[in-house]
Amino acid sequence: MIKHPDFKRYTVTSALPYANGPKHIGHLAGAYIPADVYVRYLRLSGKDVVYVCGSDEHGTAIPNQALKEGTTSTAIIDKYHALIRDCLYQFGISFDVYHRTSDPIHHQTSQEFFLNLYNKGLLTEETSEQYFDEEAKAFLADRYIVGTCPRCGHTNAYGDQCEKCGSTLSPRELINPRSTLSGQPPVLRATKHWYLPLQDHEEWLRKWILDSHKNDWKTNVYGQCKSWIDAGLQPRAMTRDLDWGIKVPLSDAAGKVLYVWFDAPIGYISATRALFQELSEGKREFASPQRDFGNVDRDGWKKYWEDEQTKLVHFVGKDNIVFHCIIFPVMLHSSDQFIIPDNVPANEFMNLEGDKMSTSRGWSIEMHEYLTDFPDRPDVLRYSMLTNLPEAKDSEFTWKDFQAKNNNELVAIFGNFVNRALVLTQKYFENKIPIRGECNEIDLKAITSLNAFPGLISTSIENYRFREATAHMMDLARLGNKYLAETEPWKVAKTDMPRVGTILNIALQIAANLSIVSEPFLPFTSKKLKDMLNLGNVNWSHAGSENLLPKGHALGQASLLFEKIEDTVIEAQIKKLMDTKNEVALASQPVMPLKPEITFDDFSKMDIRVGKIVEAEKVDKSKKLLKLKVDTGIDVRTVMSGIAEHFSPEAVIGKQVTILVNLAPRKIMGVESQGMILMAEDKDGVLRLLQPSEAVAAGSKIS
Ligand code: 2FM
Ligand code: ZN
Repeated sequence: MIKHPDFKRYTVTSALPYANGPKHIGHLAGAYIPADVYVRYLRLSGKDVVYVCGSDEHGTAIPNQALKEGTTSTAIIDKYHALIRDCLYQFGISFDVYHRTSDPIHHQTSQEFFLNLYNKGLLTEETSEQYFDEEAKAFLADRYIVGTCPRCGHTNAYGDQCEKCGSTLSPRELINPRSTLSGQPPVLRATKHWYLPLQDHEEWLRKWILDSHKNDWKTNVYGQCKSWIDAGLQPRAMTRDLDWGIKVPLSDAAGKVLYVWFDAPIGYISATRALFQELSEGKREFASPQRDFGNVDRDGWKKYWEDEQTKLVHFVGKDNIVFHCIIFPVMLHSSDQFIIPDNVPANEFMNLEGDKMSTSRGWSIEMHEYLTDFPDRPDVLRYSMLTNLPEAKDSEFTWKDFQAKNNNELVAIFGNFVNRALVLTQKYFENKIPIRGECNEIDLKAITSLNAFPGLISTSIENYRFREATAHMMDLARLGNKYLAETEPWKVAKTDMPRVGTILNIALQIAANLSIVSEPFLPFTSKKLKDMLNLGNVNWSHAGSENLLPKGHALGQASLLFEKIEDTVIEAQIKKLMDTKNEVALASQPVMPLKPEITFDDFSKMDIRVGKIVEAEKVDKSKKLLKLKVDTGIDVRTVMSGIAEHFSPEAVIGKQVTILVNLAPRKIMGVESQGMILMAEDKDGVLRLLQPSEAVAAGSKIS
């Protein structure tokens, strides 16, 4: 494999999010914020880079969601594509293009890709038996089949995974499978599909990943690839029987679409194509305004995907590793047209307050909710994620940590330093850069440290160590703070104003450096700080210099960069999280199956009244029973009720209840029970009394 130490340009991608619902902030930590830091740094360093992403709008996840929301798949993708795109941009993720896989240019690119492989004989055709729903007349995708998990006995496991025990399953393993479309057991029916014979690619994959990238790929990524390859690669179907997706462009493939994991990564290529098409028509600009790498014509995209001197880097979460390191590279390699990735710096997952983040379980912070609650603080979330990225293992977001990162670092270190330097300059030097006189040892030490920062940060970023890079950036602010603490210009001002000038000059040079090197991490803050310093066009090559601001340079208007977050704000967020989790848990409780239909006459035979419990006592030798005396309005009668594990006698005396009064009496533990108290029982068997919403007269009829 040829190695290119000096790439001419970069193609950077972030995983295409499924447009099937809002996305939580864990996604930001995995594939978007690190990629954005990398790209912003490259652009600042004058590199030729395109950064592409878009919505993944195919696969069964979309029609599934449409079913849940009672709408069409098209309505679902339109709604969530816009929501996700807008959120990502509001977090400052600086894509050159955010495309979508429903776009015709993507359908065309994917079909061409498929046909290219097909015509070269690089796909194999296989007929196999798959589950078919005879009532719905459709083959069933894995997610449309549920049944009993063979590992843990959970009765609602999906055809591809049991969400209770986490096992990966195949539909044929499920016990008593049933279709989610009709509820009926599916039958096996033969169907033809086209497969990517991954096993034929083992040799070069081994050389490429296991030999060439042993030292530069992250260990979590390398380890996953190695275990996949060592386990023996299998052919993988690249088509599906489904009516939502990109049609398989063959005459004998009616009703078949491309597998979503075939078309989605091609989305990176079609997004780049769309970008250049729009650039060439003057309909769009690159994200970075200073960018100038020659004319942009319609075919400009090709060099970003076909030239060996382009470095292709995919940013993804750990669940996407195999697709970006094995399956998509096999597709790219087979195409004989496209380059393969140089790196896939995948992250692990970010958990939330001790549990896995999950929108469906209500244990998540959705991007749009964060932006609603903290509209002016995208950088605070970026920072708290960056300092806590799951680079080597899963990490954890907590609201307390978020508050601490804001209050103790962004406010107390970064903001405080900048503010002190600017306010003192305003006070003593009419907001102009003072003259730097002779430097003493402390000054020279600070300048030498300052000179080294950009190099440290570059090395970390170029090696995909974004946590470390962020820590270096904050260390530069620490350097500024320490320098002011050591030199104490506010005290020196009483005796030696020229010395104060020297100190503030150096402090402001540090602040100017901070405005450059913070740009990849905190783009909104960096912009604000540059404006406050009135700093013109600067790039990474300027960073490290102690001469960014000439003497006499007029500064802009100072304002606070960050604000403290109070405990009450954090407590409200934690409460919101708990409330949402409880709501979702209640809403998703499985309900008891429907009982057989009854007639109105059957129902009207029951005489149900509101009664009041007037006495209650425990029953000897019974854990479950309470002996109650209930005033039914008609009489006061004895009822033996199985509620002792849920209520103490004292807790029910005086309560109104609903009671079936014409149930035939029967003896329970030797006592005649003359009716039945009605209860609500949840899936865990917890009982609650059924009471009228307001007190009513005993004997009131329920109808
Ligand atoms: O896991 C996911 O969310 C996928 N939609 C990622 C696709 S990445 C790429 F291949 F498009
Ligand atoms: Zn299971």
